[in-house]
Amino acid sequence: MSFNIAIDGPAGAGKSTIARKIAKKLGYIYVDTGAMYRAMALYLIRERIDPSETEKIDAKCEEADITIGYENGEQIVYLNGENVNGLIRTEEVGNMASASSPNPNVRKKMVELQQKLAASRDVVMDGRDIGTCVLPDAQVKVYLTADSRVRAERRYKELSEKGVSCDLDTIEKDIIERDHQDMTREISPLMQAEDAVLVDSSCMTIDEVVDAVIGLAGDR
Ligand code: DC
Repeated sequence: MSFNIAIDGPAGAGKSTIARKIAKKLGYIYVDTGAMYRAMALYLIRERIDPSETEKIDAKCEEADITIGYENGEQIVYLNGENVNGLIRTEEVGNMASASSPNPNVRKKMVELQQKLAASRDVVMDGRDIGTCVLPDAQVKVYLTADSRVRAERRYKELSEKGVSCDLDTIEKDIIERDHQDMTREISPLMQAEDAVLVDSSCMTIDEVVDAVIGLAGDR
């Protein structure tokens, strides 16, 4: 049986950084489910669909074939065969992913793909609904969060280092809005699974969080 570690939490909590490091240390694969929703969002943006056009999203999401592969341990997301890794990290795509991911057809497609991956491989999977919905039987479940200001500061630093000009208050406002959208949607809202361990990374280093989660895995 494969060993599954599920990490859920709000935007900017450090899920992907932590999950990637844990996967490397344990020799598991890292599955970034947000990237799959982002690839779908990119497709919808290219098709000029508005998040409010539910029926169009229902139909169009059937045309988007999203698959993932690995190169040197890095996850590559393919949208109809095209490697879109370099195109999905923008705020526009992130906001569209948050707005289009409540769609039941979009979720059904993504969840099936995620469950298939986790059934055949040891994975560290991060997202919003992994512990509650995608992998309810995961051996380790973590709900990783941090104060919204701390998350905004991390994002600000990341963008500034890339030379992108940005405003801290706007980033924090966006993060709070995205949290609200993800937590209040009808299907699979972001929430802590009953059996998940809460980790607040506001005052923790990356390595402290990694060690804490690996410790939980060791206990199983
Ligand atoms: O983690 P991220 O910022 O890449 O995710 C982008 C959006 O995708 C997020 O706002 C909500 C959605 N998402 C989701 O609904 N379920 C997941 N398992 C992962 C992401």
